[in-house]
Amino acid sequence: MIVFTEKEKLTPFIQNLKDEGKTIGFLPTMGALHEGHLSLAKASIQENDYTVVSIFVNPTQFNNLEDLEKYPRTEEKDIELLTSIGVDYVYLPSVADLYTEGEVAKKYDFGGIEHVMEGEFRPGHFDGVATVVGKLLRAVNPNRAYFGEKDFQQIRIVQEMVKQEQIDVTIVPMPIFRAETGLALSSRNMRLTPENLEAAPFIFQVLKEAGELKNQGQTPAEVKAYVEESFAQSPFELEYFEITDEEKLQPISTFKSDVKARGFVVAYAGDIRLIDNIQF
Ligand code: PAF
Repeated sequence: MIVFTEKEKLTPFIQNLKDEGKTIGFLPTMGALHEGHLSLAKASIQENDYTVVSIFVNPTQFNNLEDLEKYPRTEEKDIELLTSIGVDYVYLPSVADLYTEGEVAKKYDFGGIEHVMEGEFRPGHFDGVATVVGKLLRAVNPNRAYFGEKDFQQIRIVQEMVKQEQIDVTIVPMPIFRAETGLALSSRNMRLTPENLEAAPFIFQVLKEAGELKNQGQTPAEVKAYVEESFAQSPFELEYFEITDEEKLQPISTFKSDVKARGFVVAYAGDIRLIDNIQF
């Protein structure tokens, strides 16, 4: 395992490998790695000759300074984990390696998908994500980049960004990695109180029930009302539950067999923001 901290060294190194005909898989992360990240890295290791993982807590995607400061940082352990599964290279940039002094996120227009759900509740978040993922993809220049479907809207944003910026990479969406209890793995879970950790599988349970109601013929509005009522009786504070199509991420009023739909939920457990979704 080699750790790079400067793109000036990383970019030509990877380019040499590509010139030799090797394929490169890439997993961008903000660290605090868990089994979900490792499953993505393992997929990359299987599908590519070499795998690069970046660890960078990107300041431009946090609309809340406290959230940025509280974001767990476990670099040493992360590197040990990545080494143990056979990741070849880690890119661990400083802010100065990716951003110039005072640089802010680019302003993107993704045709509306950036304004709904996470875009509405975390203004500027996707500008920051698209900006940093663009920078990371240019620094690594991988053949494939892996993203988890827990952040499904983020995947749609990244897909649109690489199209707009003509970055030649295949975006590989990967299924949500869940604990046995059903809880979607997240770096934020490590900040849950023991009581909330025990109660948190409720979130996926409700999503599954929502899926069953859809299969029984209920409309999106009826399913939504059920989810909202269930949360009102739970220890979690629902921020939103939306049912949208998977392409434009616009709320749908009917389920149609030729339109893929997803239910998206965000809820607070104390001050921890949990996110999950399910394909209907
Ligand atoms: O999903 C994340 O961890 C981040 O949004 C990403 C893609 C690494 C960009 O900072």
